[in-house]
Amino acid sequence: MSETQRPPTVALPTDQELVMKVIPMPADCNANGDIFGGWVMAQVDLAGAVLPARLVRGRMVTVAVNEFIFKQPVKVGDILSFFARIVKVGRTSVTVKVEVFAERIRLQGAYIKVTEASLTYVAIDGSGNPCPVGSQA
Ligand SMILES: CC(C)(COP(=O)(O)OP(=O)(O)OC[C@H]1O[C@@H](n2cnc3c(N)ncnc32)[C@H](O)[C@@H]1OP(=O)(O)O)[C@@H](O)C(=O)NCCC(=O)NCCS
Repeated sequence: MSETQRPPTVALPTDQELVMKVIPMPADCNANGDIFGGWVMAQVDLAGAVLPARLVRGRMVTVAVNEFIFKQPVKVGDILSFFARIVKVGRTSVTVKVEVFAERIRLQGAYIKVTEASLTYVAIDGSGNPCPVGSQA
C-alpha cells in the first residue's frame, strides 16, 4: 500500500468483548514517530488478561504470545479499542485472541484494524506452579 492510500476501515466485532480502551501519547513513540511496538504488546498483554482473569480468579501469568501481527501503524492520539474472546480453556491455561482497532484522531467513528494477537495465560498457585483454572476461586 502506498503512503497516500488509507488503510481500509472495518466494522467492529460483534462476537468479541471490548475489554480495554487507551490513547497512546508522544512518550510511547519510536524513532519514526509512530507508536513503539513494545508499548502495543504491553497493552495487548493487559487486555488479553481480562477474560482469563474471570475464569482463573486468582494468580496467573502470561506463558506464551502465540501470534502477534502489527497490521497497521499506531499513531499518537489514536483511540485504541481492544476486543478479546477466549479460544481455548485447558486444564491450567486459557488462550485468547485479541484484536485492536484504531480511530484516528481526525477520523473518529472509522475503525482500522491495527493489531491481532493470540496469547496464553496460566493459572499459578502460591509457589508459582500451574494449577487448574478456577481452583483458586
Ligand atoms: C507459566 C509457567 C508457570 C508454566 O510452567 P510449566 O511448568 O511450563 O507448566 P506446564 O508445562 O505444566 O504448562 C502449563 C500450561 O501452560 C501451557 N503452555 C506451556 N507452554 C506453552 C506454550 N509455549 N504455548 C502455549 N501454552 C503453553 C500448557 O499447555 C499447559 O496448559 P494446560 O494445563 O491447559 O494444558 C512457567 O513457565 C513460568 O512461570 N513462566 C514465566 C511466566 C512469566 O513470568 N510471564 C511473564 C513474562 S514477562
